[in-house]
Amino acid sequence: MRILSGVQSSGRLHIGNYYGAIREFVTMQDQGEALYFIANLHALNSVRDGAKARELTLETAAAFLALGVDPAKAALFRQSDIPEIPELNWILGTVVPMADLENAHSYKDKLAHGAKPDFGLFGYPVLMAADILLYDSDVVPVGKDQRQHLELTRDWAGKFNRQYNADLLKLPAGRTRDETAVVPGTDGQKMSKTYGNTIDLFATDKEVEKQIKTMKTDSTAPEAAKPTENQPLYDLLKVVHAPADFAAIDAKWKEAGGTGQTHGYGAFKKLLLDGYFATFTEPRKRYAELMNDRAELERLLQQGAAKARGYAAPVIARVRQAVGL
Ligand code: ADP
Ligand code: TRP
Repeated sequence: MRILSGVQSSGRLHIGNYYGAIREFVTMQDQGEALYFIANLHALNSVRDGAKARELTLETAAAFLALGVDPAKAALFRQSDIPEIPELNWILGTVVPMADLENAHSYKDKLAHGAKPDFGLFGYPVLMAADILLYDSDVVPVGKDQRQHLELTRDWAGKFNRQYNADLLKLPAGRTRDETAVVPGTDGQKMSKTYGNTIDLFATDKEVEKQIKTMKTDSTAPEAAKPTENQPLYDLLKVVHAPADFAAIDAKWKEAGGTGQTHGYGAFKKLLLDGYFATFTEPRKRYAELMNDRAELERLLQQGAAKARGYAAPVIARVRQAVGL
């Protein structure tokens, strides 16, 4: 089984990215041939500063490694190190109906939010399809928001194969994750860098403390049992703590008669902070080490790219041959 996924290097990573994506990548690297990449070509749609783009690419790579992606098991690489990607992007694009792109949810959402679309945003799903199809991927672990992109990928691969009357591109027999819950942000909306409601993975201790301490809570008194609906603090405690630890926290949350010190929201924020540091202190250390050894990071990325290009070679050869290049 060949597993492929990517994350855009368009900003600082947060715990939603970990629990919603990267943790799954780490689990899946033991289940087949895994390819994970940093979608730094996609990121050009939003990062318009070369130095920053380069830095974010390395930060994202260091994050994957620090959180457990093992370069001995998975190929970890930069999208831009695979020249076959823009090539397949173009070739595939010649059979992609404009209407599919005009009707794509992510595109329509951005328009609805007032974006003035560029060609890059419009063509985003085609580039993503090229990412997926280039390596004969079987499984693409992505969140719900990316589902439609995967369906489009399958449609276009099918169309391409029919046009050229051959099985040139493998349709990923998609197992997308829908079991992963959406991690709420500190304001209760989906955690997202665009909403400014994140708990970051690699910010300074002080910044993380601030992100947690300024979380929204309601006005329930410390001595009262706390409600569990619409409580991002409660939901995040559940995400960050192991089930057995959370059971104790849950009991305390629902218990009446406590004091501000033991049962106030501040005390629960402290528990969230403890859970965060228990989980991420080690990865944070490894991340800092990796960011201080750029040569090693670069070496690992080159090694990953070579492996990925090995998988890509027969596919692009088939495609070139079929279309007459
Ligand atoms: P953001 O919403 O912060 O811009 P991205 O869209 O770059 O994050 O997401 C990168 C990956 O992390 C995707 O696979 C996405 O499904 C996952 N992800 C992002 N935010 C969350 C969240 N709040 N809960 C679960 N998964 C998430
Ligand atoms: N669009 C994905 C996201 O925003 C990132 C991505 C680009 C991707 N190419 C991909 C994910 C190919 C899976 C497969 O999260």
